[in-house]
Amino acid sequence: MSYHHIPVMLEEVLGYLNCRPGKTYVDCTLGGCGHSRAILPRIMPGGRLIGLDQDLDAIVNAREVLRPFEDSVRLFHADFTRLPELLAQSDVFAVDGILLDLGLSLHQLESSGRGFSFLKDEPLDMRMDIRSSTSAGDLVNRMSEKELARIFRQYGEERMSRKIARKIITERKQTPITTSRQLAELICSVMPAGFSAKHRIHPATRTFMALRIAVNQELERLKAFMQTAADLLTPGGRLCVLSFHSLEDRIVKHSLRDMETACICPPDFPKCVCSKQKTMRVLTRRTVRPTDAEIRKNRMARSTKLRAAEKI
Ligand SMILES: C[S@@+](CC[C@H](N)C(=O)[O-])C[C@H]1O[C@@H](n2cnc3c(N)ncnc32)[C@H](O)[C@@H]1O
Repeated sequence: MSYHHIPVMLEEVLGYLNCRPGKTYVDCTLGGCGHSRAILPRIMPGGRLIGLDQDLDAIVNAREVLRPFEDSVRLFHADFTRLPELLAQSDVFAVDGILLDLGLSLHQLESSGRGFSFLKDEPLDMRMDIRSSTSAGDLVNRMSEKELARIFRQYGEERMSRKIARKIITERKQTPITTSRQLAELICSVMPAGFSAKHRIHPATRTFMALRIAVNQELERLKAFMQTAADLLTPGGRLCVLSFHSLEDRIVKHSLRDMETACICPPDFPKCVCSKQKTMRVLTRRTVRPTDAEIRKNRMARSTKLRAAEKI
């Protein structure tokens, strides 16, 4: 299988992860293994990489491309919220670095055949993990108009959310919406003339992104993961997150802020009763962004935000 993806902010990620020989790292989102392939030589000799992806295509690709390091790699076809349990299964109690590179790989968008792209005519699926029960087609054909509009507005910041939802309900009474092209054409039909010229994006961009986020429960999983991340790191261990959506970045920012905060008792309490400890030190006061040169080379990098923190 040829798996195409260009790793984003590679040098910055390697710098923040502080990879050293003999250390143990987790790549929670293997994708095309661009980051893992760069991490592995830096942790040799004696290092270990634990790699996860919920997309089986990524695991199949990882088995192939990480073969030169197979004795030092353990792969799991799993959602990253399961990391605590998977580490315990592997007799690993803490790791030196964790990477999350969120969102979609170029392979998923262009060659998975799962309807992630509004430019293709494919089954309307959008599941990163094909074992999960609900596809984009299920949501579009079963959800109420109100619920669809909420998803499009909340996850996609789509201003035409209500109009699109209403059109979906009308159309699906005639015939179920089963392909990415059907959905893309339906969205285009309700958008004002000149939309693309004005906004410089395809009219279906935001709706497709919103559906993908909902199908894969991306925000809920990120939130759940961030609650456990600090517990999985050794002191001095690093967490590095690349996000592509303002809602993802907000979750990362707030979670890190919470980990960096000690006592949360009201200021008028004479002494601390909450016993909350500071667990992480944030290394990126502001988000780190890709350089213009990287964005010119790789359009997928254009909305990336990097945040990193170190376990205390
Ligand atoms: C942007 S790609 C990663 C690219 C990779 N860093 C590289 O350089 O090739 C994101 C990957 O994360 C995976 N993914 C997204 N959410 C996940 C989750 N909750 N658990 C596990 N994998 C996830 C996707 O299936 C996809 O393969």
